Amino acid sequence: MIRVLFVCLGNICRSPLAEGLFKKAVEEAGLSNRIEADSAGTSGWHIGDPPDHRTVENARKHGLELHHASRQFIKEDFDRFDYIAVADQSNYSDAVEMAGNNKSHYKKVLKIRKFDTEGDGQYDVPDPYYGNGNHFEHVYKVLTHSTAKLLEHIRAEKGI
Ligand code: 4NP
Repeated sequence: MIRVLFVCLGNICRSPLAEGLFKKAVEEAGLSNRIEADSAGTSGWHIGDPPDHRTVENARKHGLELHHASRQFIKEDFDRFDYIAVADQSNYSDAVEMAGNNKSHYKKVLKIRKFDTEGDGQYDVPDPYYGNGNHFEHVYKVLTHSTAKLLEHIRAEKGI
């Protein structure tokens, strides 16, 4: 099994949506028996909470139902997952710091948008928490595109 963990700050806006979109793409590709996904937050601020209602409603508008309870990203995740896909530079720094000098752990960390051609391979997924409906819709579009590209990358890398 190939395991992918999506990571953001609160695990209630960006990463649970990335998880849901990625799982949908995996399912549509007929690869649910080969690839699984989960999500977590670098902070412990929302442990046990469902995704933010604005994220849920926006996803539902597009026909996607989200099911997740927020949990904190922990060191053991580096052993359980093959890819640690983070939303932004701050999450990247936190994850790399947690990897410490373990090179095999460090190498698993990448940005969700790394293969997003529209994002130039540079851009972070913006945090919509203090934003409005447009910000949530923007994040939905960015994550739809970037999770599809991430799946393409994983398939190429793993030869599936
Ligand atoms: P997320 O968004 O990292 O995409 O889940 C946030 C959720 C909560 C907070 C910040 C960002 N917060 O400050 O509580």
